[in-house]
Amino acid sequence: MKLEMIEIKNLVRSNILELQPYSSARSEFTGKEGIFLDANENPFGTMNRYPDPYQSELKQKLADLKGVTPQNIFIGNGSDEVIDLAFRIFCDPGKDKALTFSPTYGMYDVSAGINNVELIQLPLSADFQIDLEALKPYFDDSKIKLMFICSPNNPTGNLIDQKAIDFILENFKGIVIVDEAYIDFAEGDSLTKKINQYNNLIVSQTFSKAWGLAAARVGTAYAGDEIISLYNKVKPPYNISQLNQKAANEALNNFNNYEANLNLILSERKRVENVLLKIEKVKKIYPSDANFILIEVENADQIYTTLVEQNIITRNRNKQVKNCIRISIGTPEENDTLINRLKNIQ
Ligand SMILES: Cc1ncc(COP(=O)(O)O)c(C=O)c1O
Repeated sequence: MKLEMIEIKNLVRSNILELQPYSSARSEFTGKEGIFLDANENPFGTMNRYPDPYQSELKQKLADLKGVTPQNIFIGNGSDEVIDLAFRIFCDPGKDKALTFSPTYGMYDVSAGINNVELIQLPLSADFQIDLEALKPYFDDSKIKLMFICSPNNPTGNLIDQKAIDFILENFKGIVIVDEAYIDFAEGDSLTKKINQYNNLIVSQTFSKAWGLAAARVGTAYAGDEIISLYNKVKPPYNISQLNQKAANEALNNFNNYEANLNLILSERKRVENVLLKIEKVKKIYPSDANFILIEVENADQIYTTLVEQNIITRNRNKQVKNCIRISIGTPEENDTLINRLKNIQ
């Protein structure tokens, strides 16, 4: 147990602390039966009613699955909303800062920019781990309110060393957001187990990857009660549509399907890695704990463009990691096509 709990309210923007949140009609009356004449809905139709603003059915299912309580869950319109709301809750535009470790997921930078918050980007080491010695001086900068750790990291695919994350949680006095969008594909444990130990920890996950619901836009944040209350305070009242809640509930009811697809993606990842290793123009394959692999080739720009000309779209990461391309694991047929086309590029 962390000895000293962080005073979360000292990290929150003062206008957010004082904010009187919107009270939706559906959150004031939670019963199921009644004549609903409160929310200016149309009485006719099947999608005519506003959805549950706090997604209680979905949260209960997630709570059972993850071993947390529903009060420790926030559901976002994708985990991109979890990221954006963190800036809005904790960072005063033009004043506060956030920090992350590059190369990493691009939305931390974009969200920081939208919110007019400076994002410090410390380079990861050669093996894509956090350089704690380089980070330590930043622990003293009280303007840094948020630290984003992406694990498994996008685009490099590796988990961040658990001991380094623990060290940050023990020493950083701001909010630590561990982005676990790809955790289902990883060998390591999720940080959700630590939300009761560290009241400044937010673990973000998503239905977009292993659960196969990228189109539905459902992301999750797991954190202590205080942080979740702040998220509920600033979120739009009905941020998760009825359709999206239904899609996520159905996915959770169909756990076997999730597991079967996950296992297939993992076995395909291994197969693709093994085949790519034998292709001469592939110089290196970085080990992956995600549903994509980062490969180094002789000339990433040329290979990326040639694949696009053949209607195969990968992600050129040459600007982030020299001569590297990120390849998502597709269906076995898609992977075969990718491999064959790659082999045939001159
Ligand atoms: C690391 C990481 N976090 C978050 C997201 C966004 O996920 P969502 O679809 O839940 O908004 C992505 C999407 O690619 C990602 O790579």
